[in-house]
Amino acid sequence: MNNCLKVEKKIKDFNKEIKVGGDKSLSIRWVLLASQATGRSKASNLLMSEDVLAAINAIKKLGIKVNIYKNYCEIFGKGINGFKYKKNLIINAKNSGTLGRLLLGLLIKSPQKIKLIGDKSLSKRDFSRVTLPLQKFGAKFYYKVKNKLPLSILGSQSTKGIKYLESKGSAQCKSSVMLAALNSSGTTFIRAKKSRNHSELLFKYLKIPIKIKKTEEYDFIDIKQPKKIKAFDYQIPGDISSSAFFVVLTTLSKNSTLLIKNVNVNPSRMGMVIILKKMGAKIFLKNQRSYRGEKVADILIKSTNSLKAINCPPKLNSSAIDEFLIIFLAAAKAKGISYFKDMSELNQKESPRLNWGSEILNMMGVKTKLTKNSIKIYGEPNLEIKKPIIIKNYLKDHRVFMMCTVAALTCGGQWKIHDKDSINTSFPSFLKIIKELDNKSL
Ligand code: S3P
Repeated sequence: MNNCLKVEKKIKDFNKEIKVGGDKSLSIRWVLLASQATGRSKASNLLMSEDVLAAINAIKKLGIKVNIYKNYCEIFGKGINGFKYKKNLIINAKNSGTLGRLLLGLLIKSPQKIKLIGDKSLSKRDFSRVTLPLQKFGAKFYYKVKNKLPLSILGSQSTKGIKYLESKGSAQCKSSVMLAALNSSGTTFIRAKKSRNHSELLFKYLKIPIKIKKTEEYDFIDIKQPKKIKAFDYQIPGDISSSAFFVVLTTLSKNSTLLIKNVNVNPSRMGMVIILKKMGAKIFLKNQRSYRGEKVADILIKSTNSLKAINCPPKLNSSAIDEFLIIFLAAAKAKGISYFKDMSELNQKESPRLNWGSEILNMMGVKTKLTKNSIKIYGEPNLEIKKPIIIKNYLKDHRVFMMCTVAALTCGGQWKIHDKDSINTSFPSFLKIIKELDNKSL
């Protein structure tokens, strides 16, 4: 199959209603927590992407029964620490940092070594950020290359709650420790820099003893080991991170309107909307409602031809962390110089996104000034690309692929974007939806 996407035409005006896939963070958390519940849990609109399927395969290998049907998925949990598995088990987290890091939190009591592997991109990423706190619980780690996958974990039978200071604003680190707390006697105390709070909301909904105090900068979270987690059903809302590509596509297109139905608009994920609105984008939340502590809404977007640059407040970084590539594209078409700082976490993602984002904008003819943790983007509101652009994307970063596709559809040029199948990690229906908007564009 040809794995390279050619785009040679801009997208035509559209006025449509779409749905994006289920939220990836919630999908992976549902799979992992349902595996720790007692009995049958059921989810609808679970994201059927490679990251989530890797999570399902992981718990299956750990002895949990899973059935996938057309409209829902069911998991037969065996209770906290109820995993049963053979010797020399190998689990493949593939491309997913969330799966790899959260799963380790559930394995701190494993009586035998379990090996965790991942793809080329995940094997480059840092795992010390979770192995350090998990060691405090008593787990042991073995590596070939320190702090990188492949690694093996060996649990301890006497795990006790810890005190953990999370300082990166990483929901993966916070959630890994929260899941480890399920397996530890006593109380686990976490002081975490602000990051997405899906795990906290799920713990509350599941009546796991959790106390949260919030200050401007930190969340203080205390978790006591629960006796049992009840099986639970969940309807996963759409993913704001997938929606972001269509928010910017519509914003940068001419005379277009788009309604994205049923999206998770949790405030800890809303940085992209706040940033783009500050830049002048026309984004409206309709039909807002609550679902099990999460906020859900339909997102209405209208094109605009007058974006302005932004000096992005770093306190928005964590709530837009997965959206910066597509935000950089909006900044490339805005009037003035945009500035994004304290961005070092962006180079810790599936690819070094701060560096690659800058490189892609340069290939498009947009000037940037890059440092280790910041970028200035010199916007070109009238940008029209005339030349061929080839994107290699050798770490197969799904969001690099989708950013480039949106760039090609809105700025012109003759693009060849490699590794089309990278979208399968988070948003398998991405290209299909673009064809629904304009079936001649691709
Ligand atoms: C995620 C947390 C974020 C995000 C990732 C999903 C999660 O990572 O980038 O795509 O579901 O907890 P960090 O915790 O490393 O910021």
